Amino acid sequence: MKNLIDILDLSVDEINELIDTANDIIANPEKYREKCRYKKLATLFFEPSTRTRLSFEAAMMELGGNVLGFSEAASSSAAKGESVADTITVVSGYADIIAMRHPKEGAPVIAASKSLVPIINAGDGGHHHPTQTLTDLLTISREKGRLDNMTVGLCGDLKFGRTVHSLIAAMSRYKGIKFVLISPEELKVPRYVKETYIKSKDISYEQTESLDEAIDKLDILYMTRVQRERFFNEEDYIRLKDSYILTPEKLKSAKEDLCILHPLPRVNEISTAVDSDSRACYFEQARCGKFIRMALILKLLEVK
Ligand code: CP
Repeated sequence: MKNLIDILDLSVDEINELIDTANDIIANPEKYREKCRYKKLATLFFEPSTRTRLSFEAAMMELGGNVLGFSEAASSSAAKGESVADTITVVSGYADIIAMRHPKEGAPVIAASKSLVPIINAGDGGHHHPTQTLTDLLTISREKGRLDNMTVGLCGDLKFGRTVHSLIAAMSRYKGIKFVLISPEELKVPRYVKETYIKSKDISYEQTESLDEAIDKLDILYMTRVQRERFFNEEDYIRLKDSYILTPEKLKSAKEDLCILHPLPRVNEISTAVDSDSRACYFEQARCGKFIRMALILKLLEVK
């Protein structure tokens, strides 16, 4: 039985297969409508979500299956003190596959050790978010026609941004990738991410605090939210929250074929005036999330 805890649980070939399947689902949705009939997906969300939970649920419904679960810890027996291990032991007797989000890093590893069915990490604290990365890779491949030979700028909260950590891990396996890491000093990418996925592979990168100085080099600009929920102190959050705000003015020096991504939700970091720019791909990115999650469910349930 296969789980998806970390994006590196999937080989590059497996990711390419998932992208192919997602593209086929987009082109031929009717072929997939009964693929998961009588199958159940449990979505166990101990942290808030709009896109990840609802796209997983829509994905299973579009495959003909059913969904059950909870959207906040307060409405589950976690509120009474039940452990993740016990919750998963029980729910894996009710569902065929489980997608879970939890504020504690590593919670999905505990879950996988107890589960009778595949576990999908839908985000664990400030650690990883592999299905967001699959979404990002599908979007990039559809927008750019490739996943290699490009300069990828990651901007904002690179410290707590789990989507950033998973995307760096994934893209470091494609050739010709250069990373530009744009953040305030306090929100720099964690050392383990830099050492494991960038430095140890001799991947070209630069670090800067200036989006203005970096923007003209980028093929991809991955904006992120400064996450209030990860800060220990409100003063730091307030000081850093508006470090970067992408506006039409700032995009004047960007490439014509720049692809602007954001895992969403956004707060202030992309002005709504950018939404009508042809380079703004973040709502299309959110749409892609459902199709790649359909492909992932099929793979983990071993449905042909
Ligand atoms: N991108 C993302 O994980 O969004 P949600 O928090 O809405 O699921």
